[in-house]
This record gives sequence, structure tokens and C-alpha cells, in this order.
Amino acid sequence: MRYMTAGESHGPQLAAIVDGVPAGLHISEDSINADLARRQSGYGRGGRQLIEQDRVRITSGVRFGRTIGSPITLVVENRDWQNWTDRMAVFGDAPVDLQRETTPRPGHADLVGVLKINSDDCRDVLERASARETAARVAATGIARELLADLGVDVFSYVTSIGQAKMPEQDPMMDAPDYKPLEIELSDVRCPNEATADAMRAEIDKAREAGESLGGTFRIVARGLVPGLGGYATAGERMTSRVAAALFSIPAIKGVEFGLGFKAAELPGSQVHDEIILDSNLGFTRAGNNAGGLEGGMTTGMPLIATCAMKPIPTLMTPLKTVDLDTLEAADASKERSDVCAVPACAVVAEGEVAFALANAYLEKFGHDNMADIRANIAAYKERLKTVSR
Ligand SMILES: Cc1cc2nc3c(=O)[nH]c(=O)nc-3n(C[C@H](O)[C@H](O)[C@H](O)COP(=O)(O)O)c2cc1C
Repeated sequence: MRYMTAGESHGPQLAAIVDGVPAGLHISEDSINADLARRQSGYGRGGRQLIEQDRVRITSGVRFGRTIGSPITLVVENRDWQNWTDRMAVFGDAPVDLQRETTPRPGHADLVGVLKINSDDCRDVLERASARETAARVAATGIARELLADLGVDVFSYVTSIGQAKMPEQDPMMDAPDYKPLEIELSDVRCPNEATADAMRAEIDKAREAGESLGGTFRIVARGLVPGLGGYATAGERMTSRVAAALFSIPAIKGVEFGLGFKAAELPGSQVHDEIILDSNLGFTRAGNNAGGLEGGMTTGMPLIATCAMKPIPTLMTPLKTVDLDTLEAADASKERSDVCAVPACAVVAEGEVAFALANAYLEKFGHDNMADIRANIAAYKERLKTVSR
């Protein structure tokens, strides 16, 4: 499966095309819309979310609620387009009173983008570099989530820190898979610990008052995976790099760890590697999950756990210094309407990216023409694994 998105932040619409989707997969518009709503929500989001109410419209590849094996087109309208028809017109001349964006924001794509494409207006860059694009990704990766759900795999996320507010955790690699997704969904910071959630909101309030922004960390958990997805033989097969690349493709992600991650580098081997045991019900399993569900570039069958770091939002209401592209004088960076903190929303985007990488690995291993064959192939594989451990 591949997906491609198009659309500017204040253009008429965002679109995504997903191809390589097997036939016979049930698709629910409601599930994709629920994910779009989850991406829009979260304490600390900006005014744009009050304007938009993202809904997907599928215009190809699905018939009577099931995929038919052809490319799927998903469209999400930008309601804000109504306010930008002159400044973002596809044809015609720019309005005479057009205010170009000439004060690039440190931390955003503005400056390097205009240098790269030879433009005198940062808007040519920021319209696409804006994380509004991630709405199209959530729609596109929703197809992968449907596929995984069909195969008994769920992917969820929770926020572990915002600024200095950190969730206390004893043994996150063993505890994470048990956090109840509903508790997380009910939290506007996606944090299952109420005291930490209060501290996170307080951090965001403090940042907003100071004209500041915040980043944080979140964890992605995928449960119900078979062992052996991905591969150990070539660089391109390794799930470690494929999932990490998917996560690093999200704007503002600056760190990804699997399992213990950086902490593993501090500990001796006996405290890191997960001992192998043979369980009468589960077959081969592990005493722990410090590896975060990946060994040798393949899924182990334990939950896949990735922790991501998101940097603070670049747009600041108390702006940093920049250089005006017209006057070449020092100036305040521009103040595009903006989130104070988007860590919870970013976690939702990341769920989708992980789901897409995992769904592709399933198709690679079990076929990709239709769901019936894929399900049968997985059942046969599981049966063989049982025989091995008997
Ligand atoms: C869900 C989400 C929402 C974001 N919202 C904003 C925002 O409102 N304002 C902003 O300046 N950056 C926002 N960002 C971050 C920028 O998109 C990102 O920092 C920028 O594109 C530069 O890319 P880089 O951080 O990877 O270098 C958001 C990112 C995500 C994932």
C-alpha cells in the first residue's frame, strides 16, 4: 500500500490517494471521521480547530462499504478556505493589498523553504509545511487501521509528558499495553494518569499566558501482532527502520525510541534482553518486553511500543527574532494562528503512521489481493507456529 496527500492548509481541500489496498475490506466512514475528530481535539489546540470540522468523503475504491481493489481517494474539505479565496486563489492575479509573509519563523519550514523554491512569500511554503496536511494522513492511514482491526490488531497512543509535566511509570514496557484506550480517549491531553493530566493542562495554560509553546512525549502501542512481520535479511525489510521512518515523517517529531530505547544503552545485557519462555497457551513468549516488540527487525509478537518526542510548536505569540526578507532588517517572526501544544493530536497522527507501516508488513507476508486469502494465510501461519511450539 502507498499513500500520497495533496492540498494546502487554506486551499479548498486536502486529498489523499491510497493504492494497493486489498479487496473485501470493510471501510467505515464513521471510524475515519472519529480519528479525524481525535486529531482535531486536545487541550492546547488553536483557533483553527474551531473553524474546521473534518469529515472524510471517499470518492473511489469503495463500493457498498467494501474495498474493490482499486485506488481509494479520500477528500477532506477546508472550511477556512471561505476566508482565503482571494489570498489562495488558484488562478488570476494576487490581490493588490496582498500581505506577503516575509518574516520567517524560527523552527518552521519558512526560511529554508523560500530559499529552496525561490519565493519571496513564506506562504508559498507554509501552506504545505503546515501540519494541516496531517488531516489527510489521518484519513489515508485510516484505511490501514481498518485492515489491522480486521486482523485483530489495535493501535493506540497516550501522552507521557508535556513540557515538565511527566507521567510516573514503574515499568512502561509491561504496563503500557494495559492502559485502557477509553480512559485515554476521555482525557483531553490523552494521559491516563489524572494527576499528570492536571499538571499537563497547567503547563499549557502557563505557556499560553507567556506567549510560549510546548512539546512533549507520547507512546504508540500496537497489540495483537503476529511474530515475524518485517525481516532481518535486508535493510529495507527491517520494521525498526520502517516504523521509525514513518514516525519521523511527521512534522515536529525529533526522537523515536523502541522499547527501552536510549535507556538500554545504560544497562547491562542481562537487564535488557527479554528471556524466552514456552507457555502452554501462548507458545513462545517473553518474560518482558524491553525490546518494545521488535527483534532483528521483526515483530516478536509482543506489543510494539514506540516512544516519540515532539518539539515545541514553532509559532510563538511572543515571537522570536528573525530577519525580514524584504528589508533584510531584524524583525519579529510572524504570528500565524497556532496551537500552543499539539502533542495529543500528534499522537493520533502517529498511530496512523504506525498502523500504515504494520499493515504493509502484513500484506507483504500474507498477500494483498483480497481479505479472504489474507485471513486464511494468517490462520495457516498461526497454526504452523502452534505446531512448532508443541
Ligand atoms: C498535529 C500537529 C500540529 C501542529 N500545529 C502547529 C501549529 O499550530 N503551529 C506551528 O507553528 N507548528 C505546528 N506544528 C509543527 C510544525 O508543523 C513543524 O514544526 C514544522 O512543519 C517544521 O517541521 P519540523 O518541526 O519537523 O522541523 C504541528 C505539528 C503537528 C504534528
